[in-house]
Amino acid sequence: MKSKSSRFLVKGGKPLHGTVKLSGAKNSASKLLVATLLTDQPVHINNFPCTIIEMEVTRQICESLGTKFIKFSNNEAVLQTKKITNTSFSEDLGLINRIGILTVGALLKRTGEARIPKLGGDKIGARPIDFHLNALKQLGAEINEYEKFYELKAKALIGANITLPFPSVGATENLIMSSCLAEGTTYIHNAAVEPEIIDLILMLQKMGAIIDVLTDRRIVIRGVEKLKGTTHRVIPDRLEAASIAAAAIASKGEVVVKGARQIDMISFLNSIRLIGADYEILDDGIKFFYKQKMRPIIIETNVHPGFMTDWQPPFIILLTQAEGVSIIHETVYENRFGYVSELKKMGADIELYNTCLGGSVCRFANTNYYHSAVIKGPTALHHANITVPDIRAGFSYLVAALIAKGESIIDGAHYIDRGYEHITEKLSKLGVNISRI
Ligand code: UD1
Repeated sequence: MKSKSSRFLVKGGKPLHGTVKLSGAKNSASKLLVATLLTDQPVHINNFPCTIIEMEVTRQICESLGTKFIKFSNNEAVLQTKKITNTSFSEDLGLINRIGILTVGALLKRTGEARIPKLGGDKIGARPIDFHLNALKQLGAEINEYEKFYELKAKALIGANITLPFPSVGATENLIMSSCLAEGTTYIHNAAVEPEIIDLILMLQKMGAIIDVLTDRRIVIRGVEKLKGTTHRVIPDRLEAASIAAAAIASKGEVVVKGARQIDMISFLNSIRLIGADYEILDDGIKFFYKQKMRPIIIETNVHPGFMTDWQPPFIILLTQAEGVSIIHETVYENRFGYVSELKKMGADIELYNTCLGGSVCRFANTNYYHSAVIKGPTALHHANITVPDIRAGFSYLVAALIAKGESIIDGAHYIDRGYEHITEKLSKLGVNISRI
């Protein structure tokens, strides 16, 4: 699971120009792979970002449980889980990402039990799984917690009426996968409806599931007996799209992001226009470009269709270049500004506050979490040696480094490799002077 090399060397200062093609969405692909465990028939997934480390981890989890991979290369995953041969996987795989907990639905349905190592993932807050566990209990699972793992048992999962305390992406996906083969109907209230969740629903529908998405954050799943194999294409990665868009605009360049879909990025596109940059919707992508001096903005991250939390780290770099005072209020994760201290080393003027700035009051009001950022711009960024704390922050360091004067070294390339495919090749093609050292 080692990445190719642990550091990037970036020589900044050149605008990005050219065309880049998006990979399949990481946040969708890993869930689609897990969903294949729900059938004993073959599944063929196209546009699959096989070389992202997170996909390799997910592949190993599935393989530990009994999946046979017929192909896992050249953006194709072809696989079949005729039989679940194991109801657990190594703790190391559990610690690397948060996909493991999503296997419970298939394991409980096909074997009646699951043993899930306690989760890892990015260091961006506590990231508990209480919503998952409480909802699974409502579906009839019996859960015991041990020091290093959870043990779940269920003779059968039974449809239930479940309200999530917050529209969690992972909990919604877990519930959809757990209830599509349950007895009876499951209602998820306050569900997340991210495009990656819709992608999962579309693949499950092709496999035989009956799932409705209502307009008021309700998802209704009517349990069926069995699911069958299918062929599916992963949606393009809207996080990669936003990251490259930020890089293009921050560097005062112009980049066509092939595969980027307007429907997945409405709030991002509005924010781009509000700061005075621009975009053009093309038949097969979106062109992003710098236009004029940028203006400040107030952004509050939110669940879809709001401004996605994963977009804020690259966007903050744009705001260091806008003229005036901008605010980002992070309302999804309590602790997603850890990366800012390194940006300050590069000359960014960003202060963090534990209050809700920006207009709304969020779940983290009256806590001590520094979840609002005030960004004063424009500030010239200068080169630095920086260490990446998590995936999204990693890309924002790349954006900072490629607009900074001089050579920056970014340590912790493996975090960036967890989320982005062929990133050095793609950025080099756009004119960035980047190499692995
Ligand atoms: C997914 C994405 C991640 C994105 C996030 C929000 C993947 C692999 N990752 O993460 O890139 O930033 O959605 O769009 O798809 N929470 C609880 N209890 C729970 C579950 C969640 O308190 O049981 C809280 C979390 O701590 C967080 C919030 O709910 O504050 C949102 O988390 P969630 O939507 O579940 O994120 P992930 O699915 O882990």
